[in-house]
Amino acid sequence: MIGVFDSGSGGLTVLKALRRHAPRADVVYFGDLKNAPYGNRGRDELDVFTAAGMRTLLRYGATEIVSACNSVAVSTKRTCEDCDIPYASSIEMVGPTVDCFMDTNAKVLVLATVATIDSAIYQSKLEAKGIVADGIALPNLVKCIEEGRPRDVMTEMIRTTLRAQVSHGYSHIILGCTHFPLVQDVFEEVLASMGIDAVLVDPAQAVAQAVARQFTIEGDGTTRILVSAESPIFESFVRTLFPEEAYTVEVV
Ligand code: DGL
Repeated sequence: MIGVFDSGSGGLTVLKALRRHAPRADVVYFGDLKNAPYGNRGRDELDVFTAAGMRTLLRYGATEIVSACNSVAVSTKRTCEDCDIPYASSIEMVGPTVDCFMDTNAKVLVLATVATIDSAIYQSKLEAKGIVADGIALPNLVKCIEEGRPRDVMTEMIRTTLRAQVSHGYSHIILGCTHFPLVQDVFEEVLASMGIDAVLVDPAQAVAQAVARQFTIEGDGTTRILVSAESPIFESFVRTLFPEEAYTVEVV
């Protein structure tokens, strides 16, 4: 069974892509809402949360893990060893996304949390392929999304950060936090108003394809959703993203 892990609602965007690319797979999802957001925390703390999240998924029957949280991408592989998960049985967000970039003339901007940008994992992997990459952190956006803050608050937050830091000429913009595609239309509006017409990349697609290729896809397409704390906002994202399914959300 495939386990999918995030701090909260963001990983649901990866679960959605997974349902499309591996419909038969049985999946258990864990959102660590008690400790969300992760993106402004230090690496030691993120290592601890990653290990705890993986252990929760293993306890509920997962045998392979999707770390659907960019902020813990650098924590994922080193945590596998502690949790007795073979290295090949985990997939994080960054590797499959960067693998999809073939054009070395691409100029890429990564928008993500502070933890992801500070780790420089996207920038270094892209630059290793000869691709120019910059990163900008949006420190409070995940909190706004998890709190269900009004759209205009998020629009202003994204606009203010980008206006102060962004330059033009990017061919691609990676939404390097799995929460960000939940408000992709807000990003599109802001970028259009600033005259930036780069291709927006949602890493969930590349990750779901990597899962379908690399993991054992077996089961009846069941989905179990676990969280470490209750959240009506999380539940409303579940209903919006999976309108056909009557998923129950279990607090564990
Ligand atoms: N959705 C996660 C990510 O991709 C975590 C965001 C957070 O909890 O701050 O980075």
